[in-house]
Amino acid sequence: MPEYRRPEDTNGSTRPSTRLIRTAWQRASYHGGMPVVTVAATKGGVGKTTLAYEIAAAIDGVLVDLDWDSGGATRMWGYDPGAYRTSPLLDALETGPGGLPPRPKKRAHQPDLVPASPDLAASRIPDSLVADCLAAWAKGWGDRFVVVDTHPGANPLTDGAMQVADLVVVPVILGARELDALEGMLRDFGGYRLLLVPNMVPPSPPRRLVERLAILAADTPVGPPVSEHRWIRRRVRRAALCLQPNPGRAVVKAAGEFRQLAVAIETACG
Ligand SMILES: Nc1ncnc2c1ncn2[C@@H]1O[C@H](COP(=O)(O)OP(=O)(O)O)[C@@H](O)[C@H]1O
Ligand SMILES: [Mg+2]
Repeated sequence: MPEYRRPEDTNGSTRPSTRLIRTAWQRASYHGGMPVVTVAATKGGVGKTTLAYEIAAAIDGVLVDLDWDSGGATRMWGYDPGAYRTSPLLDALETGPGGLPPRPKKRAHQPDLVPASPDLAASRIPDSLVADCLAAWAKGWGDRFVVVDTHPGANPLTDGAMQVADLVVVPVILGARELDALEGMLRDFGGYRLLLVPNMVPPSPPRRLVERLAILAADTPVGPPVSEHRWIRRRVRRAALCLQPNPGRAVVKAAGEFRQLAVAIETACG
């Protein structure tokens, strides 16, 4: 199971240094722009992209896709990075915080998006530069929240997005292995402003796992849960559930959960 490992950790420890944690808090308080909300987890498949997409839609934020894998928000949105020679996101990161923020793509019923590029995988942009760029863009985009979707596990893009975040939203699946992974993440990232979001929660979750989450989350806020909506996996529409025109009952229910979560996030960042 992948663990976060910061680039600075050369001694095999996955625990970030106190200096790094303090840097994270300072950045969050002094970057002075609109809040940055980063969705992150040690594991893939826990619902990061779905949450990031819906949160950005619900709060009319700008979604920055830092996940270079092709099964992420960029493809879901309908943008094919392979069709373009350049990546505005990568160019803007390489230019640094003094440059213009990349211009978000817009489509009806979808969140405004700064799309990812497969080239992000091989980029050697340090985490501090990622953090500084996101902070600058959070000012440059005016009064919009910035929502960042991330690649699972340790990498400089995710690390930078977590360091600058006013809030790190962590989807939590109620499974034994998933809670083991959460335990590790809480140990390594306890100094960050985390919001745990129980995700894909079945109608009757096993009590033992709910109790274990309650113990693990004793010192960490837990947001409103999102239910398991099996049909979401089969859905091909690109519209965010929160923005879908003429929604049926199932979509109304799911969108209501995502909106409640968005309100909790806005409150936590307020
Ligand atoms: N609340 C939910 N209920 C059921 N399935 C979901 C839910 N949220 C996401 N999924 C599905 O779970 C899979 C993984 O979600 P995704 O958002 O891509 O996770 P990640 O970004 O962490 O890899 C996708 O097939 C997605 O449609
Ligand atoms: Mg994803």
